[in-house]
Amino acid sequence: MKVGVLTGGGDCPGLNAVIRAVVRAVDNENGQTIGLLEGWRGAIEGNYIDLNFENTDSIIDRGGTILGSSRTNPYKNPEDVERVEKTVNDLGLDALIAIGGDDTLGVASKLYSERQLPTIGCPKTIDNDLSSTDQTFGFDTSINIVMEAVDRLRTTAESHRRVVVIETMGRHAGWIACYAGVATAADYILVPEVAVDVDRMCRILEKRRAAGKLYGIVVVSEGAKLAQNEDFVTKDTEVDDFGHVKLGGIGEVVAKIINSRTGFETRCVTLGHLQRGGPPSAYDRVLGTRMGIHAGRLAVKRDFGKMVALLGTDIISVPLARAVGTMRQLDMDVFGEVEEFFE
Ligand code: F6P
Repeated sequence: MKVGVLTGGGDCPGLNAVIRAVVRAVDNENGQTIGLLEGWRGAIEGNYIDLNFENTDSIIDRGGTILGSSRTNPYKNPEDVERVEKTVNDLGLDALIAIGGDDTLGVASKLYSERQLPTIGCPKTIDNDLSSTDQTFGFDTSINIVMEAVDRLRTTAESHRRVVVIETMGRHAGWIACYAGVATAADYILVPEVAVDVDRMCRILEKRRAAGKLYGIVVVSEGAKLAQNEDFVTKDTEVDDFGHVKLGGIGEVVAKIINSRTGFETRCVTLGHLQRGGPPSAYDRVLGTRMGIHAGRLAVKRDFGKMVALLGTDIISVPLARAVGTMRQLDMDVFGEVEEFFE
């Protein structure tokens, strides 16, 4: 049995743990694993490396992905889809495991349903916005990075009697902002799922100042909007292969509003790609390893068109087609609980 594996989309901590586990699971059944380089680009161009015990055994602690990643979409060009199929056939792949978010897995799902290619998915993203899994690996590391950053920002905010607005990643889901905001006792959290109430935010900051708290911490998700009918704040108008704009800039907008309405001196800190870099947390190493083992086993069993997923504490498999296409937004029950601490 020969299994191909690729990592697509934005990188995230835990990818190497998955790759290592896939190799081990396939190896244990006397199979062979190859790694296609830079996501679907490697599948289009036929670029790959051999993966084995030696070159994967000690990568669990490394961030990023040893295979490289890209946001290449073969479905942008019908010839590229043909090329992916050719690569699978030329390399004699019995299975192809795609580790990625909604875009990467959407391609895997289409290749399975339209071309009957033997694809399997493994859900990754710091955004935690994939449906059909309780959590994606990468998310835990990311919120810990944000937490550490906000812990540091708090002391300087307090010293200077400032409000610091921290802009997090997460695209159109507020998981990172919400969890990191709760973990750091933020005064206010702005997420894309809830209409931003600027008046309330400013009132709360002023109320706390009147009660003796002379600084503030506001965490805002990059996909939050000031009004539901407004456009997202974006860095530029360029879109990637999957049609996504680059979000970013809402933090500066919010900081200016706070300054003009409350008189608080404000600063905005955009954490950006720091949130995706560096070693994975223990949780993500374990989740990645478990998902990788199960993906490898699905490949060996030739159980294609599936995605591995976390359900409670179990790793299960779900149809790829069901897992892609619907974004998993922040759980409103969680956000509702958090609101208790705002007033
Ligand atoms: O999807 C992961 C993510 O980090 C988002 O949170 C963010 O909006 C985007 O990727 C950034 O993409 P890029 O790495 O292409 O700038």
